[in-house]
Amino acid sequence: MSLRLATAGESHGPALVAIVTGLPAGLVLDRDAIDADLKRRQEGYGRSPRQQIEQDRVEVLAGLRHGRTLGTPLALVVRNVDHKNWTWGMSPWPPEGDPQGKGTKPVTLPRPGHADLAGVLKHGHADVRDALERASARHTAVHVAAGAVARSLLATIGITVGSSVVDEDELRRRIDEARAERDTVGGIVEVRAQGVPPGLGTYAEKADRLDGRLAAAVMGIQAVKGVEIGDGFALAGRFGSEAHDEIRTDRRRDTNHAGGLEGGMSNGEEIVVRAAMKPLPTLMKPLASVDLETGEPAQALVERSDVAAVEALAVVAEAAVAWELARAAHEKFGGDAVGDFVASWRAYVERIGWS
Ligand SMILES: Cc1cc2nc3c(=O)[nH]c(=O)nc-3n(C[C@H](O)[C@H](O)[C@H](O)COP(=O)(O)O)c2cc1C
Repeated sequence: MSLRLATAGESHGPALVAIVTGLPAGLVLDRDAIDADLKRRQEGYGRSPRQQIEQDRVEVLAGLRHGRTLGTPLALVVRNVDHKNWTWGMSPWPPEGDPQGKGTKPVTLPRPGHADLAGVLKHGHADVRDALERASARHTAVHVAAGAVARSLLATIGITVGSSVVDEDELRRRIDEARAERDTVGGIVEVRAQGVPPGLGTYAEKADRLDGRLAAAVMGIQAVKGVEIGDGFALAGRFGSEAHDEIRTDRRRDTNHAGGLEGGMSNGEEIVVRAAMKPLPTLMKPLASVDLETGEPAQALVERSDVAAVEALAVVAEAAVAWELARAAHEKFGGDAVGDFVASWRAYVERIGWS
């Protein structure tokens, strides 16, 4: 059975939910490690005060007993502490009593760069909030929780995943500048995975190529508008002799322009994926928009928002890469019990003589 992930949850609803299916039984999960990833997602220069309200913690409702997976669907929950201020506005059922708290008035001012306009047109919503609550990146919290579970599976076969922000000092300077101007900024993050053996993914079918799957997983994160593998766009301007990584007799490479991926498969070198994040769309000095109720020109919605979320993106992208690598590893090595998964991996690396 392949690893699958489904999520639910609105930004200011009661909670965020993830259901992970296909995990082998006997995988040890560490609550502190999952919570540490959730905390990392909330940190970073340029985040909004929302991050001080939320103290994200994972709860497990199913699929785990005494810290070990049961081989059954794993249900993860991260509660939205801020929901207490939105109990009327985001009540799942028709609210009782007078409107109170936040989210009581319909939003009719779509933000350029956000899901607001296309979201309401597509679904026929009268209130932009009906689109923006889910489009918001708040639910990346449960993707990070699921990524931490994936990371535990990868750890059993020696794969680790980490991330960093490219040009972090320069980014901080730009964040200060943007904050002073009531503007926003984006940036670039890099995810690296070590210990990935050759042969995850395939050249046989386009949809199964690991490079494409990693790119889709990272591009699927809100505000990511560019993804590159290894030297990516720079490769287009080089001669082939400068672009490819020569193979030594031990089958390793001295360079890694390919970012650990050739022919839609891992090649045994470090996997390197970069993502470019656009500036966040919610501006404190709003751009021109339309009032959807009156049809008149208006300024876009101003709502509490981050100036930048690049450091958070690094953690979210790391989780996306971990998830996709775990899925590819589980496809290759299988196993209903984690011991079977590890034994299959061991047999494989022995067969190809990889250490
Ligand atoms: C971790 C993270 C935090 C984000 N925080 C905000 C935010 O505070 N304000 C905002 O306008 N956009 C934020 N975004 C970006 C929007 O969610 C995103 O631009 C929007 O959903 C539209 O999708 P698109 O940019 O992929 O087209 C964030 C994205 C991520 C990954």
